Amino acid sequence: MQNLTVIDHPLVQHKLTIMRCKETSTAGFRRLLREIAHLLCYEVTRDLEVELVDIETPVKAMRAPTLKGKKLVFASILRAGEGLLEGMLDLVPSARVAHIGLYRDPETLEAIEYYFKAPSDVADRLVIVVDPMLATANSAIAAVTKLKERGANNLRFLCLLAAPEGVERFTKAHPDVPVFTASVDEKLNEHGYIVPGLGDAGDRMYGTK
Ligand code: PRP
Ligand code: URA
Repeated sequence: MQNLTVIDHPLVQHKLTIMRCKETSTAGFRRLLREIAHLLCYEVTRDLEVELVDIETPVKAMRAPTLKGKKLVFASILRAGEGLLEGMLDLVPSARVAHIGLYRDPETLEAIEYYFKAPSDVADRLVIVVDPMLATANSAIAAVTKLKERGANNLRFLCLLAAPEGVERFTKAHPDVPVFTASVDEKLNEHGYIVPGLGDAGDRMYGTK
């Protein structure tokens, strides 16, 4: 699929396998999510533009590359987006952060918004939306729609796991937003869970089940 990048780096796949295991502890799951976010962040930012600036090393003056343009925005879909966000901020500490509070209605699977806060100038920045799970895509579609309403026009969506149905729905709704994921799994089940997946990402991160 044109707008989809599957990050199949062996370290990503190895860590993802441990996260999927039902025996993995809450603490272990959170630590792995943060670690894997470093590797995913590396890939989703691979083609960022750089510009040369004049610096002096202790040895010699030189022109050296630095990131070009305004600081990035990382937009975290609550709750589970926070796990990816932490790791992304380890690598890009100066990024601005947006928070979008959404939960899935367990019956209808519709995304219900309960919070939104974003930098006022999202129109001038690359916005990377993060959420570990792209299942029906209701949450991701709603988050990106809201960010676009606030002016965002340069967006990427980063997740850990996606269902084929979710990728299809998301790319239809937002064909201008590239999707990055570590895996496209088999399918969604009748409850809207990714199969085989890893269960409920928020519950596994915070031990709320
Ligand atoms: C999970 C996950 C995504 C959403 C994905 O959140 O973190 O946001 O489900 O499902 P979708 O693609 O079908 O919308 P959930 O709604 O369980 O909320 P939580 O993060 O607060 O637990
Ligand atoms: N949300 C999750 O946390 N897990 C799924 O499998 C689907 C949606």
